[in-house]
Amino acid sequence: MKNKILIVTLLACISFVCLSWTTKFQAEQDSNWEVPEAYTTMKNPYANTIDTENVGRALFLKHCKLCHGQYGKGDGIMAENLDIEIADFTKATIQAQTDGSLYYKFLFGRNEMPAFKAKIKNEEDRWLLINYLRKLGE
Ligand code: HEC
Repeated sequence: MKNKILIVTLLACISFVCLSWTTKFQAEQDSNWEVPEAYTTMKNPYANTIDTENVGRALFLKHCKLCHGQYGKGDGIMAENLDIEIADFTKATIQAQTDGSLYYKFLFGRNEMPAFKAKIKNEEDRWLLINYLRKLGE
């Protein structure tokens, strides 16, 4: 009887280790986030709009800060509870992407990054938010 318990415990431990290894592997595999060409080449219709009412900033603080952090450094209060490390918006890896790519990722999300397509519906608001991500990189 004791032996059986031991074996079951051992098996449970082994499967736990395997499982966490697989999830880690999947997260790493996902590091390349492909964006359809229709989005990478998409023009930002509000690229030159001056956001006098700071709509982009307000939306960022309301919807993104929790995970991405107040200054977009990937250090929001929820970030440490996530399995995936969040990119630093002030760095070139993000700033080198086209507005359309960032727009796509934020609208459709992936893994723990929520999709905002249904939450932020106004086109101008969406792009003003993208413009704000650019500001974080300045
Ligand atoms: C619940 C936490 C959470 C919230 C809220 C959140 N994000 Fe994210 N975001 C993530 C995570 C996690 C990733 C990385 C996902 C991945 O690589 O699979 C990410 C990735 C991104 C990326 C892609 C970065 C890259 O590596 O290319 C963009 C752009 C982005 N988020 C924008 C936003 C914007 C804009 C908002 C607010 C409207 C927002 N996120 C809100 C968790 C969050």
